[in-house]
Amino acid sequence: MKRENQIFQANNCTIENFSEDHIDQVYAIELYSNPTPWSEKIFHKIIESRSLSFVIKLEDQVIGFCMANRVLDECHLQNITVAKEYRRQGLGQFMMDILIKRMRLADLNSVLLEVRKSNHAAQSFYKKLDFERLSERKDYYKTDNGKENAIIMHRIL
Ligand SMILES: CC(C)(COP(=O)(O)OP(=O)(O)OC[C@H]1O[C@@H](n2cnc3c(N)ncnc32)[C@H](O)[C@@H]1OP(=O)(O)O)[C@@H](O)C(=O)NCCC(=O)NCCS
Repeated sequence: MKRENQIFQANNCTIENFSEDHIDQVYAIELYSNPTPWSEKIFHKIIESRSLSFVIKLEDQVIGFCMANRVLDECHLQNITVAKEYRRQGLGQFMMDILIKRMRLADLNSVLLEVRKSNHAAQSFYKKLDFERLSERKDYYKTDNGKENAIIMHRIL
């Protein structure tokens, strides 16, 4: 995609709807990616719910996942994560493009998300992808020693 020496190439990847088969690998990535990782139970619930969620696989390895669901007429982006060794190679952007295609198919034209105030990397990523800051929600996330605010961002397609 973007860089000549990158490891990630979209044409070697498969996109699969998120299912029980992926939970172990997704959970392993989640554990080191999120300061307060989701439990496996939450991932099982996502599978049960009406969901737009999917994973990206390179051969048998999950290298990224995007968890999103429909809330009324809007898409709620709950979690988008790229395995550490594949970051900054365009995979996050690739997953967002897929999510947007899925949203269009589902007649959804806006996407909302929360991001930790301290997660500057993710905020830069969302800004690059045309998300705008809507508001700030106090004490939304747990931290090791307290709580932290969420920045609410959205994008209209
Ligand atoms: C946020 C995340 C999904 C981005 O995925 P990615 O594959 O690394 O992002 P991309 O390579 O598609 O980046 C696209 C653009 O976003 C911006 N961006 C991405 N990561 C960034 C970083 N760490 N710092 C600053 N800008 C960044 C850049 O503008 C980048 O374009 P460039 O590489 O040409 O400069 C990834 O860093 C991640 O998994 N983080 C941990 C989990 C997380 O925080 N998820 C979000 C929870 S709300």
